[in-house]
Amino acid sequence: SRVVKLAVIPGDGIGPEVVAEAEKVLDAVIAGSDVAFDKTRFSLGAGRFLETGDTLTDDDLGAIADHDAILLGAVGGVPGDPRLRDANIERGLLLKLRFELDHYVNLRPSKLYPGVPGPLADPGDIDFVVVREGTEGPYVGNGGSIRRGTPHEVANETSVNTAFGVERVVRYAFALAERRRQKLTLVHKTNVLVHAGGIWKRIVDQVAAEHPEVAVDYLHVDAATIFLVTNPGRFDVIVTDNLFGDILTDLAGAVTGGIGLAASGNINPDGAFPSMFEPVHGSAPDIAGQQKADPTAAILSVALMLDHLGLRDHAERVTRAVETDIAARTSDARSTPQIGDAIVARLQA
Ligand code: NAD
Ligand code: IPM
Ligand code: MN
Repeated sequence: SRVVKLAVIPGDGIGPEVVAEAEKVLDAVIAGSDVAFDKTRFSLGAGRFLETGDTLTDDDLGAIADHDAILLGAVGGVPGDPRLRDANIERGLLLKLRFELDHYVNLRPSKLYPGVPGPLADPGDIDFVVVREGTEGPYVGNGGSIRRGTPHEVANETSVNTAFGVERVVRYAFALAERRRQKLTLVHKTNVLVHAGGIWKRIVDQVAAEHPEVAVDYLHVDAATIFLVTNPGRFDVIVTDNLFGDILTDLAGAVTGGIGLAASGNINPDGAFPSMFEPVHGSAPDIAGQQKADPTAAILSVALMLDHLGLRDHAERVTRAVETDIAARTSDARSTPQIGDAIVARLQA
């Protein structure tokens, strides 16, 4: 029998609420099988910072790295909370984990499940995956400012794009497109970001030559937001940089029935480090503590994790249970644990 070492980071706000349901579903799907999950909980996030002043210590990082996978709820406080100004939870914790554990593929699938009420009148079939680069771009934080607070302040953030970093994520995206509908769209802003956009375009063209079966097209990011609303069915695999991928995937979540359904995996395909699975959404301070959050995104993140761990049957069972639950939804009046319990019941049916 196999034992998977799982690091669990419930985090802040609705994070612990949705992770509790994700764990319920995980426990239920593996019950009676020959796989066990040995879980370690890590108290990290805005809450921990306010208590101890720590964001992510080297000990935390080392301990987390010594696992097979990570399940994360969400971290971060109320945007703009002055007490968190020095914490920099997003950079110091979430991005630090993604960078240090070399999560260069941020995998964000979007699928419109039958029965889901979405904002589009005539959505058609929506089933695409955004392959968002996870370790570079404007997120690496080598910016700075001078003359801060004066009328002559200068602030900049540079987008870092390396040939190595772009090529590896582009190769991953092509391989994924091969296994799907053989269509890949590069999204960037090459008309303005000529250097960053240029390296992405050149590398996509080079790798495309090795994949003649994959139809490749290109969209500027502004136009991509139009098509995500007017014709989302045109997309199969989207490959894009860290920042554009962040923005596109909140939009993708919204058009496929809401951010409460959008799952993600921060993948280290080489397997040198544990991959991390988390909903696309944040800690939602506006609804935290009320058990109003939809835990489905966290539960579908468990399915992505199971698939990544090679537990494909378990992953499919979770996805099917979620699909059945979604198809039967009439309103969103259920509480967080009611949705989790309903999905567990579907698993056992
Ligand atoms: P958010 O995703 O937390 O919330 C945006 C809106 O979506 C809110 O109205 C919220 O109520 C709603 N929402 C989010 N998840 C939901 C769910 N499961 N069910 C129902 N409604 C849901 O984004 P934000 O308000 O910009 O950020 C809040 C905090 O979370 C910030 O500190 C931000 O930095 C952080 N954040 C963390 C992560 C992460 O840990 N991965 C991701 C995004 C934002
Ligand atoms: C996400 C979040 C993060 C990001 C923030 C909280 C750093 O928005 O996971 O989408 O920008 O990647
Ligand atoms: Mn985001």
